Amino acid sequence: MSIQLGDTAPDFTQESTQGPLHFHAWAGESWVVLFSHPKDFTPVCTTELGALAKLKPEFDKRNVKIVGLSVDALTHHADWSRDIEETQGAALNFPLIADADRKVSNLYGMIHPNADNTMTVRSVFIIGPDKKVKLMLTYPASTGRNFAELLRVIDSLQLTADYKVATPVDWKPGEDCIIVPAVSNEEADRLFPRGYKVIKPYLRTTPQPNG
Ligand code: BEZ
Repeated sequence: MSIQLGDTAPDFTQESTQGPLHFHAWAGESWVVLFSHPKDFTPVCTTELGALAKLKPEFDKRNVKIVGLSVDALTHHADWSRDIEETQGAALNFPLIADADRKVSNLYGMIHPNADNTMTVRSVFIIGPDKKVKLMLTYPASTGRNFAELLRVIDSLQLTADYKVATPVDWKPGEDCIIVPAVSNEEADRLFPRGYKVIKPYLRTTPQPNG
């Protein structure tokens, strides 16, 4: 059975560049981004890992831990880390799982045999502090991901977990939000004291409640 949104993220223990990683215990009360890379010493992955290392303070600010995975051994990860620092100007500052036996890749369905039999696709799982899967993305090996978009999604996930709002197309922090349809106008009057606009009965916008 493949993992679906709302499922509990499977727990595991696997080697990583920061020692054995007991996933649920390591995650603690934080949000988590777990993402896979097809293979060590590949060019797109090298750029992705360097970019993420530079962006880590942004994830920290949001109480999000990041952890990568590649289906190679720890010794390869160590050599590759040196290349990442040399070519991207940033050293790995988060754990990279060494999933040589494919334990985690198989658990999370990160190998798509019709794309490639051995390498993982570029999977992303965002997991909440309740250990439930909140978002999944799957990119092919040939396309590097956009981590600014991940931060934007995390901002939306964290906001919508706390308030009865949804975020519209291309929403960015600070912009108006949508009041979820299950909220009546009477409840909206109470919940959104800064007011709201009724564009259609099902489309009501309000300033970001914690903005
Ligand atoms: C890469 O990460 O650069 C890559 C990996 C597998 C296939 C194509 C590109």
